[in-house]
Amino acid sequence: MGRSLCAAQEYLGGIYQEPSFLKDIRERAAKTDVPINVSPDEARFLQFLIVAHEVKTIVEIGTHFGYSALSMATALPANGQLYTCEKDPKRAAVAREHFAQHKDGAKIQLLEGDALESLSKQALPFIDMVFIDANKSGYTDYYEWAVTHVRPGGIIVLDNTFLMGTVYGETLPPHIKPKLVSKMQALNEHIANDSRVYACTLATQEGLTIAIKN
Ligand SMILES: C[S@@+](CC[C@H](N)C(=O)[O-])C[C@H]1O[C@@H](n2cnc3c(N)ncnc32)[C@H](O)[C@@H]1O
Repeated sequence: MGRSLCAAQEYLGGIYQEPSFLKDIRERAAKTDVPINVSPDEARFLQFLIVAHEVKTIVEIGTHFGYSALSMATALPANGQLYTCEKDPKRAAVAREHFAQHKDGAKIQLLEGDALESLSKQALPFIDMVFIDANKSGYTDYYEWAVTHVRPGGIIVLDNTFLMGTVYGETLPPHIKPKLVSKMQALNEHIANDSRVYACTLATQEGLTIAIKN
């Protein structure tokens, strides 16, 4: 204990180099919006899951500038498809710009608007993987949607399940309400004991939960 996670990430960053098109998106987000995309090592892990699990169809909830979507799209086969949901029209426009600039962007369909509303209107194929990375207040509903819609054997990944460390007692940042902490704790316990899935959580900085549907 006590070893620095940031130093480990820096070390890994020197070995698994972040592609320049992703670095550009990350830097643009930090300069013009907020840096809320997944980290390069998390992006690499998502790609690893896609390759290992032979994932062809992904639903992502929470696009932002398209960092994780584009990163995952590069790991999909040529006939792979990724649906990504973004509520904020300005962010959706920036993400579309990024998808248009990269050949793998053609695998991505952006659904603009509230995620569950958009997904309910969309005829979706067999879903191999769902990546949840949007408003934390919606996580319980997103997880239920994912368990219902992902194929048996498919995977559900949820980012930020530590809710900035608050689920294990870190000081509450002003923008996080105690009710949200209880909600995330309840969801974490629910997933760990949910007989519909087999789950584990990686103790990354943000907490990354992965569940395989039985
Ligand atoms: C953490 S960011 C996503 C980061 C992205 N996955 C990445 O790593 O590049 C969360 C995004 O979810 C969007 N969002 C919030 N509530 C939403 C909702 N109800 N439906 C769709 N998107 C939503 C926010 O506007 C924000 O851009």
